[in-house]
Amino acid sequence: MEIRSTTDKDLDVFVDTVHAAFGRFPETPVEGGGLWWSALEMDRCLLALTADGRPVGTAAEHPFELTLPGEAIVPVAGVTAVGVLPSHRRQGVLSTMMRHQLTALRARGDFLSVLLASEAPIYGRFGYGPATYTQRLTVPRRQAALAVRRARTAAGAPVAGSDNDSVEVLRRAECGEILEEVYDRYRRAQPGALSRPHRWWALRAGQPPISPEPRYVAVHRDADGVPDGYASYSIGESNTLTVDETIATDDAVFTALARFVLGHDLVSQVVFKHVPPGHPLRWQLADFRAGQVSDDMDWLWVRLLDIPQALTARGWFTDGELVLDVDDPFLGEHGRYLLTVREGKADCIPTDREPDLSLDVRDLGSVYLGGTAPSTLVRAGHIRAHHPSAATLADALFRADRPPHCLHWF
Ligand SMILES: CC(C)(COP(=O)(O)OP(=O)(O)OC[C@H]1O[C@@H](n2cnc3c(N)ncnc32)[C@H](O)[C@@H]1OP(=O)(O)O)[C@@H](O)C(=O)NCCC(=O)NCCS
Repeated sequence: MEIRSTTDKDLDVFVDTVHAAFGRFPETPVEGGGLWWSALEMDRCLLALTADGRPVGTAAEHPFELTLPGEAIVPVAGVTAVGVLPSHRRQGVLSTMMRHQLTALRARGDFLSVLLASEAPIYGRFGYGPATYTQRLTVPRRQAALAVRRARTAAGAPVAGSDNDSVEVLRRAECGEILEEVYDRYRRAQPGALSRPHRWWALRAGQPPISPEPRYVAVHRDADGVPDGYASYSIGESNTLTVDETIATDDAVFTALARFVLGHDLVSQVVFKHVPPGHPLRWQLADFRAGQVSDDMDWLWVRLLDIPQALTARGWFTDGELVLDVDDPFLGEHGRYLLTVREGKADCIPTDREPDLSLDVRDLGSVYLGGTAPSTLVRAGHIRAHHPSAATLADALFRADRPPHCLHWF
């Protein structure tokens, strides 16, 4: 089998093959864009070909930025469009493509790759671990009251999300650059969030509110009229108001947008499609049981390609030392690293000291953004703690400034 990079000339065959792998037919272009694959960059796509040159597999990656704990922003490869024709499955095509892709990413200097998994059992073997999580929160309209006072400063003046702010409802088509700008401000401060390159907004590639499906957008502005949050929504069957995403540059803005959608007339329930687990909104509802959680699932999977570079790139919040013994069975590698954190920065060097923790690189991916406690993976039998305090120390070290969350679909 041959794996080769594609060029613009391969777009049709690439798109045909990936759709056939998913059992779908390619969408026909519509006015206003909205085709997810229009954002593909063909020099970042791979085709797997049989000996007689027939395409049977695809994989691609997007150049994104990922926000790490401590507001560190780093480049990542966002792996996507992974598929193998149903006639050629379980013959190692994906494994060959993954090896090719990971090797190429490393050679290019990438130290992290990320993806969204269609099925959870696929990617652990390639060194990816689930690292951010998301939930759907449904609130019946009759239980939608918030028990949260409008915020004021000590001097009594309104602060963000309070009286002097405003919410304006626009149609998606009227939003101009507002959503792109607000999303960009939000993602720079949110660990686990990915950039949405301008190209995606310009092509309207992806899911609402990027794509051109009709949506209303509640745009929140601060007291100076500057947009600092939005909720993109539609009202559908049974008068359910569904919010695609609530993007807010701080918690008070989120509350103001939630107050707006929860107060919408002629609505039976409000569904927030993407809320980070543990979000304060549930605690703000006057009736704690009003917020029904469903579709609690993994979102971003993370793969470390260069462990010292990845560990020194993020911010840290507790001083300490930890020796990590890391296995990378897919790439046939093993390393032992001394991680030393002082005043928010880490050093990570090879060591032959006795390890505190032994773990697979996919588990390191899971704990990397602070969304999965190492102690959970110790209790699950994934990570081996070599002494009783190792898991507690690892929990304290890997914690993030706020829980990581990603809602970008790619
Ligand atoms: C997922 C997919 C790409 C796998 O391709 P493939 O060429 O069959 O994978 P491989 O033959 O390299 O499989 C490698 C290993 O992963 C396992 N595996 C692959 N896909 C799996 C799945 N969906 N569920 C569980 N295990 C899976 C294989 O059994 C094999 O295990 P083994 O090494 O123990 O024998 C292919 O089934 C596909 O195209 N599915 C539909 C599209 C899709 O879901 N794409 C992923 C998008 S995120």
